[in-house]
Amino acid sequence: MGVLVAGGAGYIGSVTAWALADVGADVWVIDDLSTGHAASVAGLPLIIGDVGDAAFLYHFFSTHKIDTVLHFAARSLVAESMRDPAKYFDENVGKSAVLIRQAALAGVSAFILSSTAAVYGTPQRFEPIPETAPLVPENPYGESKQSIERMLEWMDRCAGMRFVSLRYFNAAGAGRNNTLIERHLPETHLIPNVLHTALYPQEPFSLFGEDYPTPDGTCIRDYIHVDDLASAHVAAWKYLLDGGSSLVANLGNQRGFSVREVLEAAQLITGRQIPIQIMPRRPGDPPYLVADPSRAHEILDWQPLHTSLEAILTSAWEGILRAEKQPSVSHK
Ligand code: UFG
Repeated sequence: MGVLVAGGAGYIGSVTAWALADVGADVWVIDDLSTGHAASVAGLPLIIGDVGDAAFLYHFFSTHKIDTVLHFAARSLVAESMRDPAKYFDENVGKSAVLIRQAALAGVSAFILSSTAAVYGTPQRFEPIPETAPLVPENPYGESKQSIERMLEWMDRCAGMRFVSLRYFNAAGAGRNNTLIERHLPETHLIPNVLHTALYPQEPFSLFGEDYPTPDGTCIRDYIHVDDLASAHVAAWKYLLDGGSSLVANLGNQRGFSVREVLEAAQLITGRQIPIQIMPRRPGDPPYLVADPSRAHEILDWQPLHTSLEAILTSAWEGILRAEKQPSVSHK
């Protein structure tokens, strides 16, 4: 039986699609290439299409034997979601409902959702967050992912479709031997932006807010290597294949780093000065998000391999340097 990776040409989706193929899964990628790149999955079967298009999905599921769907297709920018919340309800919640319905009609029995730490909002205490923490999203992006998680809970209760919702903290690093890098247009994420300034110091890095209630005033995040996210999806796939019941699990390293700490580590790893400009806070950014990932360790038997900030930054930097040498490769 096949595995559909929806949104599988994007950053995390493509690394996961390859990881699944590496362990022998019969992988099919669907992506509309609005933010993904066909080059990232060159060699895997890619069908260009929209997960919100019911007729397209009906045709796909009628002509392919699929028993598991991994769903990465989404808008995922916190700041954009604050500016245009309806886009997130339309493209994340609306299109996910179409995908989930078509999958269920086709008899898909297992569903793995790319979810997010943004479902938690600001934790009551600045301590690693377990899955049982209150869900109080502070931005429409987090709200949209929480809605999809809730849909899946009802699909399990009413239709027997089992799911794993994986709540990622901050994905970073370059995947698959540093060949698949994170690059969006425009890029909004911290590590690629810091490393961009290391390469191009004439474009200073914008640090959004240094008046947060954290030790150095900048936001604290838990960075996780994209290869480790991919291995968690493989573990979740095997878990559902083995009959595991529905599960929500955090994916992070249980270690928080402030924006300033990431900057300092990046200067050491690149050996370059990274000029900064202090900007106001970015709307929708919680001050602190660090995972308690023990559930994923215990239930999915997941063991991340690249857990140090140095390893994650080194991977991202090597990936960027490699991509700079291959300007013909398009990375959105
Ligand atoms: N930051 C900067 N300058 C930049 C980019 C980021 O100062 O150029 C800061 C942000 O303000 C934030 C931190 O770096 O404090 C991390 O920002 P990212 O954009 O890298 O990541 P986010 O924490 O906003 O987003 C990530 C995921 C989302 C997820 C979110 C949870 O990308 O999918 O964590 O809040 F929803």
